[in-house]
Amino acid sequence: MTAHTLPEIGTIEPNQHGYRSFSLGKFAFARDEYFAYIQWPKGHHLMPVDAFLRALQRDIAWGFFYGTVNFDAVIGTLNHYGTVDLFAGRYNAHYRKAGLDYVETFKTPLIQRVFEAMLDDWTNATFDPFASPAETGSAFGPKNGHNKEAITRHRVTARRMVGAPGDEPRRADDNGFPVNRGFVDVPQDEPDVKPEPGFEDEVVAFNLLAYLSRSDVTWNPSVVSVCKNSLYCPTTEEYILPIIHGNDRVEWFVQLSDEIHWEVEDRETGAARARVTMKPGDVAAMPADIRHRGFAPKRSMLLVWENASPELPALISQGKLPTNPVQF
Ligand code: PHB
Ligand code: FE
Repeated sequence: MTAHTLPEIGTIEPNQHGYRSFSLGKFAFARDEYFAYIQWPKGHHLMPVDAFLRALQRDIAWGFFYGTVNFDAVIGTLNHYGTVDLFAGRYNAHYRKAGLDYVETFKTPLIQRVFEAMLDDWTNATFDPFASPAETGSAFGPKNGHNKEAITRHRVTARRMVGAPGDEPRRADDNGFPVNRGFVDVPQDEPDVKPEPGFEDEVVAFNLLAYLSRSDVTWNPSVVSVCKNSLYCPTTEEYILPIIHGNDRVEWFVQLSDEIHWEVEDRETGAARARVTMKPGDVAAMPADIRHRGFAPKRSMLLVWENASPELPALISQGKLPTNPVQF
């Protein structure tokens, strides 16, 4: 891989719509009133700019996540945990066959910095990329201010369990956010915990559904409990998962409320593999060789259970671990 120096961000004058253009290696990015344009040596592509910013926002906020973050069927990133591949057409059977696919690898801080600058410049004051379409204004039109507060949110990450001493936020009802319009029927009472004397700091509980009912973001898992490498990452979902996630490990979903439809495809080619409709109480294990995108007709609660063991991607890619958690 070639070494890259930091590009001079901001030297490119804003275009006639008021937006700056960005380059990263041999990739170039530009936006106008409706679209984000992506160019690479062998091709070019465009995406609706609202969808592009929603995907970009999550890629940045999640530190490039586990495995692959496809912005759509063409563009995306693959995390090597230290470096990141930026690709076009690499996981699209047709681009591969036509020889139009392209990949460049960047040190994580470099791609992070360029992506953050692009998100900041291209997100107008009216648009919150983390919010559901019904709870944000428009991403479109000529440049119109900034929304730094929205785009610098990080997902909430507990070090132990929400409610355990030393972790924030504590109780669901004092996290400062109102109950979302989709969850007005969710009881807000907290569990009554009566630990034996001496165990007051060790036996804790909180109302997870009340906690989630106050989430002001969509498709943004928060870590609420950590037990070694086992992470419980519940999230509230509405409309469409802004990325198509390609797993590098098995991932479990527990549907806590309402309904999500999942489109499951082959991770390498995009070939359709399954459609999964999850209703409250349904549990699914997403295999380590697929990619998936969720659709939530109404705001819903989903528990994503991640195994963060750093050795998993290598064990799976070398065939030392199966791609399915259960062999039937
Ligand atoms: C996933 O890719 O597994 C994923 C990402 C974000 C969510 C839910 C699931 O909110
Ligand atoms: Fe996933």
